[in-house]
Amino acid sequence: ADAAVVPALVIGTGYGGSVAALRLAQAGVDVHMVEMGMAWDTPGADGKIFANTTTPDQRSFWLRTKTKQPLSNFLGFPIDKAIPRYTGILDAEDFAGITVYQGRGVGGGSLVNGGMAVTPKREHFGDVLPTVNPDEMYGTYYPRANAELGVNMIRPAWFDTTEAYQYARVGRKHAQRSNFPYVFVPTVYDWNYMEQEAAGTAPKSALAGEILYGNNYGKKSLQKTYLSKVRATGRVTISPLHRVVNVVPATGGYKVTIEQLNTNGDPVAVKEVTAAKVFFAAGSVGTSKLLVKLKATGALPNLNGEVGKGWGDNGNVMCGRANHMWDPTGKLQSSIPTLGIDNWAAGGAFAEVAPLPTGIETYASFYLSITKTPNRAQFTWNAAAGKVDLNWQTAWKSVSITAAKTIFDKINSKEGTIYRTDLFGVYKIWGDHLTYHPLGGAVLNKATDNYGRLHGYPGLYVVDGSLIPGTTVVNPFVTITALAERNIEKIIATDL
Ligand code: FDA
Repeated sequence: ADAAVVPALVIGTGYGGSVAALRLAQAGVDVHMVEMGMAWDTPGADGKIFANTTTPDQRSFWLRTKTKQPLSNFLGFPIDKAIPRYTGILDAEDFAGITVYQGRGVGGGSLVNGGMAVTPKREHFGDVLPTVNPDEMYGTYYPRANAELGVNMIRPAWFDTTEAYQYARVGRKHAQRSNFPYVFVPTVYDWNYMEQEAAGTAPKSALAGEILYGNNYGKKSLQKTYLSKVRATGRVTISPLHRVVNVVPATGGYKVTIEQLNTNGDPVAVKEVTAAKVFFAAGSVGTSKLLVKLKATGALPNLNGEVGKGWGDNGNVMCGRANHMWDPTGKLQSSIPTLGIDNWAAGGAFAEVAPLPTGIETYASFYLSITKTPNRAQFTWNAAAGKVDLNWQTAWKSVSITAAKTIFDKINSKEGTIYRTDLFGVYKIWGDHLTYHPLGGAVLNKATDNYGRLHGYPGLYVVDGSLIPGTTVVNPFVTITALAERNIEKIIATDL
């Protein structure tokens, strides 16, 4: 073990970690970022860094020998494929009652997500972060996050004419005819680039169906935004394929134990670093699992009883609808959704009109709904198994299904259509087994103070989605980024 000492160590390289590292480095602090996933900066045998959704390979999944696609079936047939076990980009992490999808690699969830960059409506902010002043978020930190992330909007005239968004225009038409408000969803995809893809003047990414296993060109992941600025400071080192396994108080701060992994996921070396300050940015699941384990195993026994609590799924539930033959959704579907049906106020559901980029006409409309649900789960240490459990129950999704039905039952009745039953199994309407949006587990002003300082341990901070108590009412990464900007500004001003 080497005896390195660093002023600040950041665990994880997603949104929270990237914001913290950038602002610390800009304030003159040297930072070491530790990331369990790969760097994702080197092309594979096909000349591309990322695999396509239609041809998954070893790059696609984190340590699985078979894909676990969110849409597991098509026309009732299972579509998952055997792949070599590898430290791939998308982790489908199974707990007893839910599979939690997460990005693995330098850039975290920004590598795999749909890029929808939504700021919640201000009137709903009290449901998201009740102890945070909305004036400072909407006046300063949301605008800052949107600017840094490169959030932009589709050109409406292009939306109205391009073949690639016929599926979303069908979704809009159906929403309008049932009198649901709809919105154009801002994204971090470079819309000028997508227009070039459509014109055939640039290599295709969104229009080639790239999304879940990474986008090779047009999406502004954190690699192209915060992390590129992080590198430019010259003050930050990033260690990919390194996983933090322990944090204990030590002279000068905290002793952090890190396992180096090979691409089979096996530890090949153990390292120790002493850090004056440690920022937990391992994502809602990663941070919660670490903190729950460290409290229970005696490494950080003074963490309070809120650690592991308040976890939610952002009410995620998926479904498809079967359209009539006169309502084709198109063979070519951009992988980046950009239209949302907003029934939050009346029915507790915000539904994005999602693509089903199969390359064939499916006559299907596909939706990911974010819904209002009171259900919150807790992470606990399972000493016998030596792992962290989550007590989420699949049946809890019934609340989300009811909320989503406030939109889709009405549309089906208006259009004379039915739900698809072939996408999540055989005769199964609802994708209720998963979430893309884990939130909570180290909730702001409960496990931490109102700026993410962990109770019981000066110099330990949480800066990621685990601070948010279970919902952002829309897609979460803009809120995670804005909250991290708010908190790190305070921490730099008062704790350094
Ligand atoms: P994030 O998960 O981004 O980063 C945590 C990092 O820590 C990961 O890279 C992980 O590998 C690493 N890590 C974990 N444990 C570690 C350890 N012990 N040691 C070292 N490293 C460790 N949101 C949105 O707003 N719009 C959207 O369109 C979508 N779409 C979407 C699609 C899919 C398929 C997914 C999976 C997710 C989305 N999301 C989304 C959600 C969004 O990506 C997510 O909310 C954020 O990435 C969470 O940011 P965090 O900073 O909390 O953690």
